[in-house]
Amino acid sequence: MTTPLAAQMAAPNVETLQVRLDALCAIHPLPPKGAQRMALSADDKAGRDLFAGWAKAAGLSLTVDPVGNMYAHLPGTRPDLAPVMSGSHLDTVATGGRYDGALGVVAALAVAEAMAAAPPPRGLVVANFTNEEGARFAPDMLGSLVAVGGLSIADALQITAIDGARLGDALAATRYAGDAPLLSERAPHAFVELHVEQGPVLDEAGLALGAVTGVQGIAWRSISFTGEANHAGATPHRLRRDAGRAAITLAHAALALPERFGPDLLATVGRMALTPDLINVIPEAATMTVDLRHPDAETLNAADDALDAAISAAAEATGCTATSQRLARFDPVVFDQNLVARIETGAAARGLTHRRLISGAGHDAQMLARICPAAMIFAPSIGGISHNPAEDTAPEHIAAAVTVLADTLNALCHEVT
Ligand code: GLV
Ligand code: MN
Ligand code: MN
Repeated sequence: MTTPLAAQMAAPNVETLQVRLDALCAIHPLPPKGAQRMALSADDKAGRDLFAGWAKAAGLSLTVDPVGNMYAHLPGTRPDLAPVMSGSHLDTVATGGRYDGALGVVAALAVAEAMAAAPPPRGLVVANFTNEEGARFAPDMLGSLVAVGGLSIADALQITAIDGARLGDALAATRYAGDAPLLSERAPHAFVELHVEQGPVLDEAGLALGAVTGVQGIAWRSISFTGEANHAGATPHRLRRDAGRAAITLAHAALALPERFGPDLLATVGRMALTPDLINVIPEAATMTVDLRHPDAETLNAADDALDAAISAAAEATGCTATSQRLARFDPVVFDQNLVARIETGAAARGLTHRRLISGAGHDAQMLARICPAAMIFAPSIGGISHNPAEDTAPEHIAAAVTVLADTLNALCHEVT
């Protein structure tokens, strides 16, 4: 098969790509196929070390910015032209899959290696962004958010993890705090991210590839209720100030929001902790999180307002006090229409079945879209399973998506105007 694009390049090595994913998973494997590399943990550092070693072995130079975003550079023949960028994240949730994030990094690296024999006019930069997941430090997409100027370095370094660590200290422990300039100082020519879909759309339709049109909006909250500890056997309900009951009342209300705002609103209560967490003590405190997502900003705002009302109602009904902290709030993002069309055309040129779709999950590309044309390619997730060690994608779908990524990046790297 010949590439439909003007400039030919060697095919990216997808066997090496899979071996690298094996190596990343081997750091902290989770059966059956997953891995754990929570952001800025020792596991994440080990993944970063692997990436740095592969990049250096490929002759790419490595730079690191002050929040630990890593960039491996294949120089172009025209250093006056802004480079093209591709990549994703090596961090995972605690129940991480094989492909979430890591695929986008090793795929971009494979493309850079394939291009290295005959460098194009524009350079290619392979990115590994810090703390995309947001599972340890909120917000999600933190590294790319800082890189595009959406959050100051100083504020980012002060963020506290769910385990109490300060981001600046955890980063220092990895030795991946550098001094490379932020991307906002020199925007890439374009950013294209390959990722697994993490949802059921492509798999259910039996399609090989997705051209991602944008990312839905996201609103994260942490809510704490304070009541009074008392005896489970001796305290009548009329005298209770039960923080556990407040949290459960709010959980019911949050999970019922889709009934009011429609099935495109997704509501998740992912964390809930009671204090003192004993069978015969009425909880004096409860903390919980609510994750709301919707493709339309206005609807998401309305649901978020409804959540506020539900927090007050749960506190009032139980005699507790409530505090709420916003952990993340990102509007829906629309990707660059030209890039989306190019990905579609590229898939068709390779004879791949495909469709356009919006991303349910958050991605670094949505931050890069603030400073340069950005888009994403999705490979199908078997059964739509992700944030689960069983996450999987057929090897032929990985190979097909890497081919379209390579074609797209190759064309962008040859764009000289
Ligand atoms: C990132 O994985 C997210 O929660 O969307
Ligand atoms: Mn991801
Ligand atoms: Mn994820």
